[in-house]
Amino acid sequence: MLDRIDKIAEEAGRKIAEADSPAALDALRVEYLGRKGIVADLMKRMVALPAEQKPEAGQRINQLKQQTSKRLDERKAVLGVPAADAESIDYTVPGTRPRVGTEHPVNQTLNELLRISANLGFEIVRGQEVETERYNFEALNIPLEHPSRDAFDTFYLHDDVLLRSHTSPVQIRTMEERTPPLRIVAPGVVYRPDTVDASHFYMFNQLEGLMVGEDVTLADLKTVLHLLFQSLYGERVHVRLRPSFFPFTEPSAEFDISCPFCDSGCAVCKKKGWIEMGGCGMVDPKVFEAVGYDPERYTGFAFGLGVDRIAMAQHGIHDIRLMYENDIRFLSQF
Ligand code: DAH
Repeated sequence: MLDRIDKIAEEAGRKIAEADSPAALDALRVEYLGRKGIVADLMKRMVALPAEQKPEAGQRINQLKQQTSKRLDERKAVLGVPAADAESIDYTVPGTRPRVGTEHPVNQTLNELLRISANLGFEIVRGQEVETERYNFEALNIPLEHPSRDAFDTFYLHDDVLLRSHTSPVQIRTMEERTPPLRIVAPGVVYRPDTVDASHFYMFNQLEGLMVGEDVTLADLKTVLHLLFQSLYGERVHVRLRPSFFPFTEPSAEFDISCPFCDSGCAVCKKKGWIEMGGCGMVDPKVFEAVGYDPERYTGFAFGLGVDRIAMAQHGIHDIRLMYENDIRFLSQF
C-alpha cells in the first residue's frame, strides 16, 4: 500500500509539472482529488487494511492529498490566466464611458451666491442643523406665543432641542463669539414640517446675511442686496423692499427683485414683474442685548433668502420635490 502511494505521488508530480494549460490542471485535480478520484479510492482501500497498518497509511494518503493540491495550485499560478488571444480582441468596440456626476442645481446656485458674497467682503460661516430653542427662537426675540414655535411648525427632537427652522440662529452664534464689525453669510438647510407639495418641502436651503458695525444703515442693506442680485442676474435687476414684520429686525421688510427673465410678465414672476426673494431688516436692539452687544453703539442689518426658489426660477423647475428625489435623469440635466 505504501509503495503504491509513493508511486502515485511521483506520477502525480510528473503529470502536474507537464500540464501546459489551466484546463489540463483542472482535469488532473478531478483525476486525483475528485470525489471518485485516485485519492478517494486509496481511502477506501485503506479501510480494508489490518488495524495496525491503518494509521500510517492514513497519514501518507493525507500527505499525498495535501501535496497534490499544493502542486496543482503552484502550477496554476505559473501558468496564470490564459494569455488573451490577440485576434479575439476587437479594438474598435467603443469603451464604456464612466458616469461623471454633476453639481446639484441648488448647490450651483448656493455656491454662486457664496462666491458673490465673498466678493462683497462677507465671510462664510456654517452653523448647526440641530439647535436649541434659545438660538432658534429666544435670542432672536421670537416669543413663546409665536406660531413658528408650535410643534406643527417645528421639528422638535426632545425638550428644547430641535431641527433649525431657519438659518437665523447662526447670527446669534456668530455674534456671541465675536465682536463687531462683522460681515457674514451663513448657508445651509433648514427644516419645517410643512405639508409637501410643488412649492413646499420639509427641508430646504437658506442663505442668511448679517452685517454689524458702528454705522450700518438700511441704505447699506439695500445696496448689498442690489449688488448681490445684480451679480447673479445682471445690471438691470432692481431690488425693492416692502414693509413687513420679523421679531428679530426693526424695521423689517420683505424684498423682491425685478424679474430677470422677462420684460413684460412671464410664468416665473406670474406676470407681476417682481419675484419675492426673502426677508430682511435692521437688527432689533433686543437681539443685540441677547448677545451682549451695546445697542446704543452698534447697528446692523440682516437678511434671509430661500435658495431653492432661486435655483428653480433659474432653471424653470416648477416642483421643489424634483430637487430632492435624487432622480439622476432629472439632476443630470443641470
Ligand atoms: N428667518 C426668516 C425666515 O426663515 C427669514 C429672515 C427674515 C431672515 C428677515 C433674516 C431677516 O435675517 O432679517 O422666515
